[in-house]
This record gives sequence, structure tokens and C-alpha cells, in this order.
Amino acid sequence: MHELLSFLEKQHTELRKLISELEEKTTRRDGNKAEAFTALKKLLVPHMKSEEEIFYPLLLENEDARLFTYMAYEVHRMASIIIGDIDEERNNEERWAAQFRVLRQLFFDHIDQEEEDLYAFLEQFDAGRMKGALEALQEKQRSVVEEMFTESTSTVAERKSPELSRPEHEVIARAEAAGDPGGEQAG
Ligand SMILES: [Fe+2]
Ligand SMILES: [Fe+2]
Repeated sequence: MHELLSFLEKQHTELRKLISELEEKTTRRDGNKAEAFTALKKLLVPHMKSEEEIFYPLLLENEDARLFTYMAYEVHRMASIIIGDIDEERNNEERWAAQFRVLRQLFFDHIDQEEEDLYAFLEQFDAGRMKGALEALQEKQRSVVEEMFTESTSTVAERKSPELSRPEHEVIARAEAAGDPGGEQAG
């Protein structure tokens, strides 16, 4: 397995753990959630953004991967809406419990689909391309974390997730406008 995929898979393992823990905490009405939610956002938001900007555009080069990839963009969009809503509903225990349950159902299936259906489509790329993608993905994650935690004086727990809907649509629009799965990035 290429390092890019093991890197994402490791994050998936951690995301499964964090989401399950939060769902359990909210179901039990455990008061200590802010820290766990911040830890989840700090991993989940950069993970999604980097997939949208680096991983999924690679997949869109393969026509056979397009349906699953567009589904993945949609799941990210829904997950970011839920994360934003949880930010808003910080003191509403019942809403939190419901939202984390939906997030778990939505995201666990999504992660399985990435690992079981999407990774195989990267086999067409050579080692150099994959290495470049890994570096770009890690750099993107670093910059998103920086953006999330430095742009305001509010506390980390109070921060909102960055808007996720615009970039993925730009990516999709670009891919569609190119009309060629080989596109400008082929090589
Ligand atoms: Fe994803
Ligand atoms: Fe993922």
C-alpha cells in the first residue's frame, strides 16, 4: 500500500475512534465534550479539505471512479454541515446526541467506501505522482489546521469549522469543464 493511503487510513482509524467516543459521551450526556469535539474537528476538517483538493481530483481522472468520488464530495458536504451545526448547538444535549449519531452513520460508511472502493483507482499513478500527492495533502492539512487555530482570538473550543462547500464545487466544476478524465494533470 502506498504511503498516501496508509497515511489516510491511519487518520480514518483515529476518526472512527473520536466520533464513536463523542457519540457515546453525548448519549450519556457526559459534560466533558468540548475538548473531544475540538480534537475531532482538528483532524476531521483538514482530512476532508485535503481529500477534496488533492485525493479526489486524482480519482476524477479515472472515469470509473467518478460516481463514488462525487458521492464522497457529497458526504463531506453533509458532514461539514453537521459539524457546523454542532458548533451552533453547543449546549443542546439532545441535538448533539442525534448529530453525532448521524455523523457516525454517515462517515463510517464513507470511510469504508474510500478504503474499499476508491483506493484501488490510484494504482494507475506512478510512485512520483503519489509521493507528490502525499506531500501536497500533508501540506494542505497543516495549512488548514493553522487557519483554524490562528485566525481569531476566540478559544479553540469556540471556533467554528471553516466553510467547506465552496472549494469542492470549484474542483468538480473544473473537472467537468475539462471534460477529459486525463485532463491537464495527466502525465
Ligand atoms: Fe473522505
Ligand atoms: Fe478519508
